[in-house]
Amino acid sequence: MPGRVKADLKGVPETALWTLYHRAAEAARPDTVLPDPRAVQLISEVDFPFVERLGGTRPWLAQAIALRALGFDRVVRAFLAAHPDGTVIALGEGLETQFWRVDNGRAHWVTVDLSDPLALRRRVLPHGDRQRLIACDARNTQWMTGIDAARGVLVTAQGLLMYLQPAQVTQLIAACAEAFPGGSMVFDTVSRRFSARTRTGAKGPGGHHLPPMPWGMDAVGREQLFSAHPAISEVADVPLPAGRGVLGYLAPRAAALPLLRGDRPLITRLHFGSAPARLAPRP
Ligand SMILES: C[S@@+](CC[C@H](N)C(=O)[O-])C[C@H]1O[C@@H](n2cnc3c(N)ncnc32)[C@H](O)[C@@H]1O
Repeated sequence: MPGRVKADLKGVPETALWTLYHRAAEAARPDTVLPDPRAVQLISEVDFPFVERLGGTRPWLAQAIALRALGFDRVVRAFLAAHPDGTVIALGEGLETQFWRVDNGRAHWVTVDLSDPLALRRRVLPHGDRQRLIACDARNTQWMTGIDAARGVLVTAQGLLMYLQPAQVTQLIAACAEAFPGGSMVFDTVSRRFSARTRTGAKGPGGHHLPPMPWGMDAVGREQLFSAHPAISEVADVPLPAGRGVLGYLAPRAAALPLLRGDRPLITRLHFGSAPARLAPRP
């Protein structure tokens, strides 16, 4: 199709196309759990050999990816209900179209991603005045420069932290806790077992090579997140929303199911308390 924008992403950045591909497949269904016309339109505007490189989409997987996004949407909507002019910082945002699903007309939105995926995003999505795009490695705290935290901050990291080394994840969480007192952060994780599989060259359900995911976390390890920084005042589970069919029924109930309880993807929300006395600015 003429006029399409060529996407030439490889390795971890290519995964932004993989998640878009699945969200768009789910959104195109009449009974979708995540209406997202922007994603459906976008997939037809990006010139990329989706099937050849990523295999076909599986309806169950497309729904699972959409339910994850819906879980993040709920956290963002709750944040914007409490902070209508707040700032959402989406780390590793790739081609996520969440802004257009949740925007309240007042929110400020910052997208942080590596330079190639960010350049593609800039070309294919129509960003407005309240949106800012920063080409920066999320591990480099340079992206924090100039963030307006006065009206509340929510940092999101959907589909990102699993690609970082465990120590880098701790550093990133600690840096956010330090920089945004009173703010929150939400991210998802793969299980430790799944992480181990990707490190031995596992293939995805579509038959494509999965990039290694060095960081995995199980529900039992969640409490350890408190040790990343003393300002972390709350560590909470964000249950997956209910969806369609058996998967949609089980998604919010996974924590109660013996087979899934210990080995499943999680969404976690952190709250950063006001800086403890020892972190207060020196006179
Ligand atoms: C699985 S995709 C998720 C994209 C989007 N958040 C979503 O859910 O559709 C991973 C994204 O993280 C980005 N990414 C990976 N490592 C990164 C890093 N060190 N700093 C910033 N972004 C990174 C990739 O470029 C890609 O856009």
